[in-house]
Amino acid sequence: MKVSVLTIFPGFFSTPLETSIVARAIDGGALDVELVDPRDYTADAHRTVDDAPFGGGAGMVMKVEPLHRAIAERPGARVVVLTPSGTPLVQEHLDRWATEEHLLLVCGRYEGIDQRVADNLAHEEVSLGDFVLAGGEVAAAAIVEGVARLLPGVLGNPISAETESFRDGLLEEPQYTRPAEYEGWPVPDVLLSGDHAKIAAWRQRQREERTQQRRPDLWERRAKE
Ligand code: ADE
Repeated sequence: MKVSVLTIFPGFFSTPLETSIVARAIDGGALDVELVDPRDYTADAHRTVDDAPFGGGAGMVMKVEPLHRAIAERPGARVVVLTPSGTPLVQEHLDRWATEEHLLLVCGRYEGIDQRVADNLAHEEVSLGDFVLAGGEVAAAAIVEGVARLLPGVLGNPISAETESFRDGLLEEPQYTRPAEYEGWPVPDVLLSGDHAKIAAWRQRQREERTQQRRPDLWERRAKE
């Protein structure tokens, strides 16, 4: 699949695209990432991508024209605007986007993006979470990585729908590796027992307890389903 990222900081993506799973997805041909600088779609000598907000207020707003031109040059793409005012990003978004041929992520900077972009040129507005970043780039990098690992042939073991966190509404159980004891911190005995049925039951209980304690919202939703 192809992912186009509209960003005035294309350099931000060098390391994320050259590291681990994402690099492998690109090298293997499963993923093609295109970095698009809205400044290349401006018509003035200063390559202006922002302007003062109508109605007054602090900061600057990203202009509609450069973003419109860049998006129009990529017809057929699923267009997602990254903004703290969007719907919170969840695994279902990534599952759905990983089946698209072309995803286009629009990163805002400054105080935001002229709303006419989201209203007329995009399919959805998504937020990385209930906190404010300086721009959408970190969210875009998170989405590229989250989608890359779902593409066929990218992970060694295909992701099992039964075991991955969030797929069945539970968090993952804790994992341990050698040594069995370190600094007086032991690994839970059951994991060393060799009793596979007991281990499976312990893991399931851990997942349920963690979810109840850490994510009562997930636990409630699960109870209703
Ligand atoms: N830009 C600034 N904050 C953001 C957030 N939380 N999610 C997505 N894009 C953002």
